[in-house]
Amino acid sequence: MTDTSGTSVAVVDAHGAQVQRMFGRIAHGYDRANRVMSLGIDVRWRRRAVAALLAHVESGRTAVGLDLCAGTLDSTLAIHQRFPTARLIAGDFVASMLEHGQAKLVGAAKDRIETKVMDAHALPLADRECDAIFCAFGIRNLSDLARATAEQARVLRPGGKLVVLDFFRPERWTTKVVHAVYNRGILPWVGWAVTGDREAYQYLPRSIGKFDSTGEYAARLSAAGFVDVQVESLTLGIASIIRATLQGPT
Ligand SMILES: C[S@@+](CC[C@H](N)C(=O)[O-])C[C@H]1O[C@@H](n2cnc3c(N)ncnc32)[C@H](O)[C@@H]1O
Repeated sequence: MTDTSGTSVAVVDAHGAQVQRMFGRIAHGYDRANRVMSLGIDVRWRRRAVAALLAHVESGRTAVGLDLCAGTLDSTLAIHQRFPTARLIAGDFVASMLEHGQAKLVGAAKDRIETKVMDAHALPLADRECDAIFCAFGIRNLSDLARATAEQARVLRPGGKLVVLDFFRPERWTTKVVHAVYNRGILPWVGWAVTGDREAYQYLPRSIGKFDSTGEYAARLSAAGFVDVQVESLTLGIASIIRATLQGPT
């Protein structure tokens, strides 16, 4: 059962409400659309991004990880496969995305993964509750990045890790070309063919165009108290992983 007690509609502004409705509409075809549009590369990106997520947690206690904007739990499951003893919280503000993901939970994953409806701007978690936060393709959708980043810093322990995998605003000309041709020209039609919703897949390139570049996002994290901010570019810079550590002793 998805815990809906964290639903905090009060903080969802007009943009958030639009994003919520959109993911509610495409939840049924979301996984299939992802695989077709990325030709399966997103599976490799996720695996790489989560590889060291909880490796810093000392043995002898249960590591706690938050998969933020968890959607249909593909990343949560990748984290579980890599760190099978960790307790994972999968949070998203669209209950139907989480419900599609829950159908994939079998065996130990059912005990280790808790799904919780939550808004990234007001996390229903205690201060310093998490050893790591992971977010794939979610941050770009948020209305107030400064507020969401402050929330992430609040719920992370000092020395905790933040790993973000996303499509940042392209700066290299090669990535700009891919963005213009594929994301703007082809992707909305592929998205329409798989989910019946062209508008949702027109939103994707628009959101990339309005998002931070990797440099801007790294600077934002530094300003919010994160250190050792590292950027890894994936597949011609189409996607990037940003890893950071919350300042403080581990
Ligand atoms: C593109 S999907 C990514 C899902 C998953 N992380 C993945 O990699 O497949 C973006 C997700 O972010 C969620 N989301 C967007 N804004 C949110 C917010 N303010 N709070 C919580 N979840 C949010 C959406 O509901 C959606 O499930």
